[in-house]
Amino acid sequence: MTTLVVVSHSDPQSLTQHVARSTADAIRDLGGDVDIADLHAENFDPRFSKADVNLFRGKGTPPADVVAEQDRIDRADDLILVFPMYWWSMPALLKGWIDRVFVSGWAYEFTPGSEFVKKLDRLTVHLIPVAGDDAESFERHGVYEAFQTQIERGIIEYCGATLGSTTFVHESDTKRRDTLAAEIQDLSESIAARVAYPATVASR
Ligand SMILES: Cc1cc2nc3c(=O)[nH]c(=O)nc-3n(C[C@H](O)[C@H](O)[C@H](O)COP(=O)(O)O)c2cc1C
Repeated sequence: MTTLVVVSHSDPQSLTQHVARSTADAIRDLGGDVDIADLHAENFDPRFSKADVNLFRGKGTPPADVVAEQDRIDRADDLILVFPMYWWSMPALLKGWIDRVFVSGWAYEFTPGSEFVKKLDRLTVHLIPVAGDDAESFERHGVYEAFQTQIERGIIEYCGATLGSTTFVHESDTKRRDTLAAEIQDLSESIAARVAYPATVASR
């Protein structure tokens, strides 16, 4: 099984980057192939260019950097997105990656007058958001519900991919480091097992 871990954070020493590396290591330990897409280090351009707009309008061909990302995802069975929560959502860099890469013709097929086709049914997606706030605050403000609506249903299910798991890391700036380290170890091993043995581990 091949996994693509996509991480969106500018600081290699951040907790988010640590979670991405830990998850990739756990998958390798179980014998899986892992590719890491570090969007910041690779200078992915999240701006929705004129070429992207034209493509959305059914004109032209996808830009080369978009095709390269689609090829990377096409090689993967599982896609893991690791990102900090910014304003109750994902960072602009990752959102721009989704805006530009998950386009009509590749992620779905929308032609007026024809049936809508979901095209990512071969892919399983796991989400690991890293949040400063605690779980109680997310519950109270409806952040989990908003996340499910916008990201799990609005993006992943919209394109026909399977939602493998969503695992929040909370209190990322305040929790004791050793508690966080143990939590990250657990989530890495749990997701690695889902990726390596998908048939034997129940989805959430
Ligand atoms: C622009 C910005 C917006 C943020 N918005 C939220 C938020 O809406 N909810 C939350 O729990 N934490 C929020 N945070 C805190 C980050 O999620 C937290 O600092 C991060 O997860 C820490 O992990 P890191 O070391 O990987 O950066 C925000 C941080 C920044 C910089």
